[in-house]
Amino acid sequence: MTNSPKSILITGGNGNIARLLAKRLADDGHSLTCLDIVAPDANDQIAGVDYHTSDICDEAYLETILAIRKPDIIFHLASLLSGSSEIDRPRAFRINALATFNLFELALKHGLPQIVFPGTGASYGPDVPATLPEDHPQWPENIYGVTKIANERLGNYYKAKHGLDFRCLRPPLVLSPFAPTSALTAYASHAYVAAHEGRAFAFPVSPNIGMSSIFIGDLVEGFVKLAFADKDSLTQPAYNLHALCPTAQEIADSISKYYPNFKYNFKPDETVEKLLRTAPNIFEDAGARRDWGWDPISDLDTCSEKMFELLSKR
Ligand SMILES: NC(=O)c1ccc[n+]([C@@H]2O[C@H](COP(=O)([O-])OP(=O)(O)OC[C@H]3O[C@@H](n4cnc5c(N)ncnc54)[C@H](O)[C@@H]3O)[C@@H](O)[C@H]2O)c1
Repeated sequence: MTNSPKSILITGGNGNIARLLAKRLADDGHSLTCLDIVAPDANDQIAGVDYHTSDICDEAYLETILAIRKPDIIFHLASLLSGSSEIDRPRAFRINALATFNLFELALKHGLPQIVFPGTGASYGPDVPATLPEDHPQWPENIYGVTKIANERLGNYYKAKHGLDFRCLRPPLVLSPFAPTSALTAYASHAYVAAHEGRAFAFPVSPNIGMSSIFIGDLVEGFVKLAFADKDSLTQPAYNLHALCPTAQEIADSISKYYPNFKYNFKPDETVEKLLRTAPNIFEDAGARRDWGWDPISDLDTCSEKMFELLSKR
């Protein structure tokens, strides 16, 4: 149990990460409200959770939820991801940036709930060192990264000037059985799903390529640990996360230990390779380990075992 029961709002509550986070928090006895523009499937609904299907940009609706549910903590996960953001920049700015600004303003008006926000490793931009220090300058080149860094800065402004308890973590690539099919860098996640479903898989990268990654279950624990950490122990405006950096070949080998008949090959795609070659192998994450006990799985086979456990429950 993470302290006494809280009222918790998750925006983007029907997302890949949010669904697991909601389950984790509901199991701990918290009172959950989930808001998403997409309604959850009946099978995905958790008993006792208050689900709302609404656009985060609908300020009046959001304000009503804050007024009625009076959240102590808001996990603000609603977002367009990188690919969709680039396709529709005005929409990305409205959802990722403007709606977050509105949320901060509403938080001031409605009792200053804590806001926990995921930034992204993508906010550092291209041409970064393979081992990335946390204080490396953040100059993203895509609109997704730009809106994420804008939110980090806004959150820290509200924290410094208005006493908002803003907490931010920056996940690298998340290994998840529920990763969106359109995400270019989600090939590792998709390989697990293919193996589980008995399908062959073509890795869109060379065997020796990898990037900083974490298992989705660890990210969920990270969100919970950061939210429930003692405020005085938090010494940084934002925290990078890292767990492991498996190459495509290592992932294939690890999957094969669980599914010996897994058939795969490597068909490098120039765009994906370029993206991976400029992504850090390691995000230095000493701050999260020191300040709030970030302690993810760093062994690939254990991570594979957990991925298949989640896939079996799906
Ligand atoms: N998956 C990763 O590798 C990764 C890495 C770094 C940060 N993040 C961040 O974590 C958060 C969750 O990511 P995810 O991988 O679960 O993505 P996801 O796409 O599964 O979740 C985002 C959710 O936001 C919802 N949403 C989008 N527009 C909305 C709107 N206008 N109003 C209400 N809801 C809206 C979507 O329907 C979706 O359910 C995002 O903020 C993302 O930027 C993810």
